[in-house]
Amino acid sequence: MIPREIIDEIVYRSDIEQVISSYVTLKRAGSNSNGLCPFHSERTPSFTVFPNTRSFYCFGCGAGGDVITFIMRAENLSYVDAVRWLGDRAGIPVPEDEYAGEADTVSRKRIYEMNLEAARFFRDRLFDDKYGKEAMSYLRDNRKLSGATIKHFGLGFSPDSFSALTEHMKKLGYTDEELVIGFLGGKSKKTGRVYDYYRNRIIFPIIDTSGNIVAFGGRVMDDSKPKYLNTSDTPAFKKSRHLFALNFARKHSEEYMILCEGYMDVIALHAAGFENAVATLGTAITSEQARVFAKYTKKVIICYDSDEAGQNAASKAMRLLNEAGLEVKVLSVVGAKDPDEFIKKYGAEKFKSLLGESKSGFDFKLEKIVVKYNLALPEDKIKASSEVCELIAVVGSEVERDIYIRRASDVLGNNTEAMKNDVERVRYRKIKEYKKKEGRDAQLSVKNIGDRVNLESSKNIRASNSEEAVIALMLIYDEFRQEAAKGQAGITPNDFVTDFGRRVFEEICKLENSEGGFSKALLGQYFSVEEMGRIEKLEVERRRLAKNDKEVFLSCIESIKQEKNALSLSDGFDDLKARQEMLRKAKERKDPKISGIK
Ligand code: CTP
Ligand code: MN
Repeated sequence: MIPREIIDEIVYRSDIEQVISSYVTLKRAGSNSNGLCPFHSERTPSFTVFPNTRSFYCFGCGAGGDVITFIMRAENLSYVDAVRWLGDRAGIPVPEDEYAGEADTVSRKRIYEMNLEAARFFRDRLFDDKYGKEAMSYLRDNRKLSGATIKHFGLGFSPDSFSALTEHMKKLGYTDEELVIGFLGGKSKKTGRVYDYYRNRIIFPIIDTSGNIVAFGGRVMDDSKPKYLNTSDTPAFKKSRHLFALNFARKHSEEYMILCEGYMDVIALHAAGFENAVATLGTAITSEQARVFAKYTKKVIICYDSDEAGQNAASKAMRLLNEAGLEVKVLSVVGAKDPDEFIKKYGAEKFKSLLGESKSGFDFKLEKIVVKYNLALPEDKIKASSEVCELIAVVGSEVERDIYIRRASDVLGNNTEAMKNDVERVRYRKIKEYKKKEGRDAQLSVKNIGDRVNLESSKNIRASNSEEAVIALMLIYDEFRQEAAKGQAGITPNDFVTDFGRRVFEEICKLENSEGGFSKALLGQYFSVEEMGRIEKLEVERRRLAKNDKEVFLSCIESIKQEKNALSLSDGFDDLKARQEMLRKAKERKDPKISGIK
């Protein structure tokens, strides 16, 4: 890639009105200017240039974007070539070779080799008293790991030095560039020197199922922050696809696998004989990872930290794993903060019996509801019962519903028949709502049929509208963008329903969190010119609306989440037969509330 500063400078020196005016005769209209669109034929001008936001948009054909997007379209160039073209025009040279396709100049294989050398270096330092004494004692005495376990996982230690690893690697023939791209080194902005990324940390190599070392995690030995440093994505590694210790666990996973949060949990479990444990790499589980599980096993037992964050994460993981077709159970390590501590406190045998007692997804959710209330109080019991009914009502299979109703009435101390009636009533209401919504959406979606940019929008009208509003507001207001990018707006990429919405959101956040901050000109490298047109459109249309405040922003976020939720609920209703059966039963019971409805 071309370095960011150079792109920024080129865009800064390329006045959008000037650039475009050599293609289009522009007429000033207020603070903007109009002309005949160069991208489709028209007689009245609908092509508009907005100097304030340094962008253009055609209300006729939807072409839009920044100055780079314009040149991409007008000259039919790739993003990089359009930047070069503008660079030539503005007299700013773009370095030819040094940076071209930087990410691709280091092959996967080279990174694997480099990581292997680095892992050897880290391991040797750990086992060398001169450097690794404190680290070794941390692992053996504080974390109670045996020498065999330390070796098995290839743990290591990065000395407290800015140059120990990088010097060593350079002697072996690796270049600065390779070290930086492979995430073993960082490059100092001040001096331009490359320094060791991992310093004074315990090193956990992350190994793929073919035995390649694809990344590292590095933990401090005290309470300093950040607790872990990790390899970011490289040409040989994508965090969202890997699972820690899958290289070992896959051989023990036929029956089930255990999913934990931390490296240390996995290591403790393996050491105690549970070699089917894995962990994500410090992020919430993704659908890609859920599919990886499905490749190796039928059942996953989620064993997260016992704090609230861990339990909430368990709910999410449960959904994703279910969607991948896996049977899911949840285990809570009562009396300990995480599985590692549990095993240390109570031993492997106790953990084994916990595994046997792990709860089904339903029991886990049921318990989450029950603990909120005091069932001795009638009004609490009513509230709890109605929440539980909502939960059971969306289960597709009648047999399953029946089992849950029995269990729930047991736990709540309700009459089973009464509860069954309640559940069916809720189910009937939900189906009606769902049908009504389906009808409405079908009407609305006519508008979005043929949307070639966001293929999923016509199926998810409501969600895609809210997604567009959230993205538009993030583009318009710096503070909304900052909040969202910091994860403080209550929305994450996983909440998005459409792929397009998710991608746009993700890239905006990534840029916002990058060193130079957000810039629309940089978005163009991740999206096609059509997609850039759509992004421009949603911003332009949003700006024209009167009410664009925090309230709108938050309510749209809420609505995206609701839609996502409804989508997973409605899975249970997809079966038309089940629906008809439902109606028939309801009529048979001659429930006065229901029998009047055809
Ligand atoms: N993690 C991270 N960056 C952090 C904190 C955590 O990447 N600053 C990731 C690591 O992959 C870690 C996992 O999140 O393994 C779980 O975090 P935590 O429970 O805090 O760490 P543990 O590995 O369980 O370590 P310990 O038991 O030593 O606290
Ligand atoms: Mn932990």
